[in-house]
Amino acid sequence: MKRILLVIICSILFTACSLPGNSTPTVTPTSEPTAIPTEISTEIPTEIPTEVPTEVPTEIPTPTPEPHSAVLVVYFSRTGEQSSVGVIDKGNTEIVAEMIAEKTQADIFQILPEVDNYPMTYRALTEVAKREQDTNVRPAYAGEVNDLAGYETIFIGAPVWWYTFPMIIYTFFDKYDFSGKTIVPFNTHMGSGDGGTYETIQKLEPNAKVLTGLQVEMRDAENGPEKAVEKWLKSLNE
Ligand SMILES: Cc1cc2nc3c(=O)[nH]c(=O)nc-3n(C[C@H](O)[C@H](O)[C@H](O)COP(=O)(O)O)c2cc1C
Repeated sequence: MKRILLVIICSILFTACSLPGNSTPTVTPTSEPTAIPTEISTEIPTEIPTEVPTEVPTEIPTPTPEPHSAVLVVYFSRTGEQSSVGVIDKGNTEIVAEMIAEKTQADIFQILPEVDNYPMTYRALTEVAKREQDTNVRPAYAGEVNDLAGYETIFIGAPVWWYTFPMIIYTFFDKYDFSGKTIVPFNTHMGSGDGGTYETIQKLEPNAKVLTGLQVEMRDAENGPEKAVEKWLKSLNE
């Protein structure tokens, strides 16, 4: 009887051990193990830059201005309604200025108001201009001549406004010292000639050489002032 009992117990134990739920789970690697480097580099880079620049530049280089012509044409001019030539889309002084620049191979700079409040109708413009003159203002202009000091000869042109320069031209003269330079004035007008502006320039710039200017009546400017400009430029060299 004891033997039978022992056989039964052994048989139960064996069956229990072979059931799936009791088996020890085995982990199957899904991928190859990544290689772990066995040799760790112990070399320290030997070439360490030993020379550290100690000189700090003391002079900050100033940018050299671009080479340009020795001659500059500066002008102020308006489009819009003009007294007796009607509405124009190119100013009379501008026509003359561009011609001079072309014939002398000069650089050109147009004085434009920084804030342009000038009316496009003639009468209204004359009123604004008169107010500017009466209050002796210096209207600001936009931009700046690049390297004015680098020019030897400067042509300056403007219309006559109320028997003198538009006030913005005075702004320009206030801004620079033209000592040692040659100034060549030109202007357009409707009867006042230069309005005494050439003398004014010499007073404003006593150390500049002011050459004989060119006065162009506005209708002559409209009709093409080429001959007059050429003749005058030739006379400047004589
Ligand atoms: C406000 C104003 C004032 C002017 N005053 C005079 C003047 O005193 N004498 C003159 O001869 N022409 C005078 N003019 C006429 C201009 O000098 C002339 O139309 C000139 O050619 C205009 O040049 P622009 O087209 O380059 O602006 C005046 C014109 C304006 C608009």
